[in-house]
Amino acid sequence: MKNQTITVRPLSAHTGAEITGVDLAQPLSDQTYLEIRETFNQWGAIFFRDQDITPTQQLEFARRFGNVTPDDYASNLPLVDGYEELKEIVRKPDDPRNVGGFWHMDKCFMPDPDMASLLYAKELPPYGGDTMFAHLGAAFDALSPGLQATLETLSTVLIKSRAYGDGGTPAPGVTAEGYAEALEKFAGIEATHPAVARHPETGRKVLFVGPVYSDRFAGWTREESLPLLDYLSGILTRPEHTCRFRWEEGSLAMWDNRAVAHYALDDYPGHRRSMHRVTIQGPWLEPTSAAA
Ligand SMILES: [Fe+2]
Repeated sequence: MKNQTITVRPLSAHTGAEITGVDLAQPLSDQTYLEIRETFNQWGAIFFRDQDITPTQQLEFARRFGNVTPDDYASNLPLVDGYEELKEIVRKPDDPRNVGGFWHMDKCFMPDPDMASLLYAKELPPYGGDTMFAHLGAAFDALSPGLQATLETLSTVLIKSRAYGDGGTPAPGVTAEGYAEALEKFAGIEATHPAVARHPETGRKVLFVGPVYSDRFAGWTREESLPLLDYLSGILTRPEHTCRFRWEEGSLAMWDNRAVAHYALDDYPGHRRSMHRVTIQGPWLEPTSAAA
């Protein structure tokens, strides 16, 4: 489809595209919506700049793509005043750790993760705070046919508390008390997903292995799983499989948790960063025919 209403500028070969020609404060025409949706499917992460939108307009844009529901699993994040579906992702100057500062797909530790996340920049540090994206389909394509076939028979167990530490060692920026609290608070929050799955809209196969949340392959021990998980994480986050988005005030990013992993860089100590986030539910990844 040739775009009639928007202009698309890819950021890299595999993921990330900037879209211009749209004012998100206005209702989207059906044609513009279709062109944005197709760009979203093709690139996994899309970006708009210089948008001046209210929380209500952000929610209206999100609702064109799917159901918007309150994000109960980010209970430690404040709500934007008056909006139960809108969270403020805020990093205060003295916070020891930023939110999402490791490679992950949002809520991949749940049986039914969010299809997409939509982040709008409100307040930015003078430097840093970029977000990186890595394409799960590019990672799958980079593997040998033999490893692809093997992975298609496996499932991965993903655990929420893994973000706070591993094997008794707290993650960077997490205190021993914070790690112990997380283990207790998030006990039992985990899910098993096929290691390779099919994107429901593009049909493309993706490697659904979260570098931090993945604990093991189902039926394997942690010790047996780690070498392969580490190898796959290295492929997924290979620089050539990524793009890096530099935020400006008024930037809005929307990414597909079925197609990309992301990483919020923690390189602005002593500064404040505030974003408004909406999460969108939609059709989830489908098993491939080879899945166990
Ligand atoms: Fe995230």
